[in-house]
Amino acid sequence: MSKEYQITLIPGDGIGPEVTDAARRVIEASGVKINWDIVEAGEKVMEEYNTPLPDYVLESISKNKIALKGPITTPVGKGFRSVNVALRQKFNLYANVRPVKTYPGIKSRYTDVDFVIIRENTEDLYAGIEHKIGDYAAESIKLITRPASERIAKFAFELAKNEGRKKVTAVHKANIMKFSDGLFLESARKVSESYKDVEFEDVIVDAMSMKLVQNPERYDVLVLPNLYGDIISDMGAGLVGGLGVVPGANIGEDIAVFESVHGSAPDIAGKGLANPLATILSGVMMLKHIGEMDAASRIDAAVEKVLQEGNKLTSDLGGSVSTSDFADEIIKNL
Ligand code: NAI
Repeated sequence: MSKEYQITLIPGDGIGPEVTDAARRVIEASGVKINWDIVEAGEKVMEEYNTPLPDYVLESISKNKIALKGPITTPVGKGFRSVNVALRQKFNLYANVRPVKTYPGIKSRYTDVDFVIIRENTEDLYAGIEHKIGDYAAESIKLITRPASERIAKFAFELAKNEGRKKVTAVHKANIMKFSDGLFLESARKVSESYKDVEFEDVIVDAMSMKLVQNPERYDVLVLPNLYGDIISDMGAGLVGGLGVVPGANIGEDIAVFESVHGSAPDIAGKGLANPLATILSGVMMLKHIGEMDAASRIDAAVEKVLQEGNKLTSDLGGSVSTSDFADEIIKNL
């Protein structure tokens, strides 16, 4: 009898339920048996539990070790702190992995982009160490530590080695933030010495933004502190067809949470307009992580076929099919 996995599924807010439902159907159609533990978090549970992240969500992830997650809305400038940041900190999901690549069939300005963003996920300005100084000012502390910087650099080099990638680029602003980003860069440099087969370079984040737009095909693995990693991820998405197509994983020592780069997209929620591809591809990353390589490559192949045929795409990619019809089309091609 084939194995049955226990996996946590967090539908999330906005377009979350639509895109996670599509991903779940595609994963199930690939033949992998999953007993989903569906737990709600975010805006919709706020009133009942007085928190967007009730204990049952944390318990489910602690128990199952693997989760597929839809986006969760975070109020801007007030209200509860980000559930996404809280989850990453709580389970020490220190590496945020976001592969950015062009697919044939998706219109973009480039044709051969294929790099992976490795974003440090637990510290930097996202650690939430901030306070007001009366009415006049506010202060956010950028915390960078040597162990976290070395750990993320090692993760980036290991990924490069395992995927046969040639170069790791550390992205920073150490010319200005000499201590914090300086420590991040120094740590990456030190780790690079143990990986002589992988080229290492560093680029200042502002120059990186220009270089990525000019020649994205020159980059292979980017390793960045939290904030730059977040911003460059959305830029990466823009290079290859938008937020609808870029997946992601948050990886820790023994727990991993898979989710796309995009947010809850309230502007299109509930209309069947969202592209589920980013979440489906996050599901593919999840299948690879649990060792279901065959199912993962069959979904990958079906995705490539549907994109290449190009007549069943969601509206962000110039088509007119709905979220669930797009998923059905992938299922048909499995
Ligand atoms: P967003 O990523 O939700 O949307 C930005 C733009 O991209 C919107 O025009 C949206 O319609 C479009 N878009 C996003 N995903 C799409 C998809 N799958 N298919 C088609 N179009 C798509 O970013 P925004 O508007 O800044 O954030 C909305 C909320 O999501 C905020 O509360 C934010 O905090 C939260 N958020 C949550 C994340 C997570 O749960 N990991 C990540 C990023 C944002």
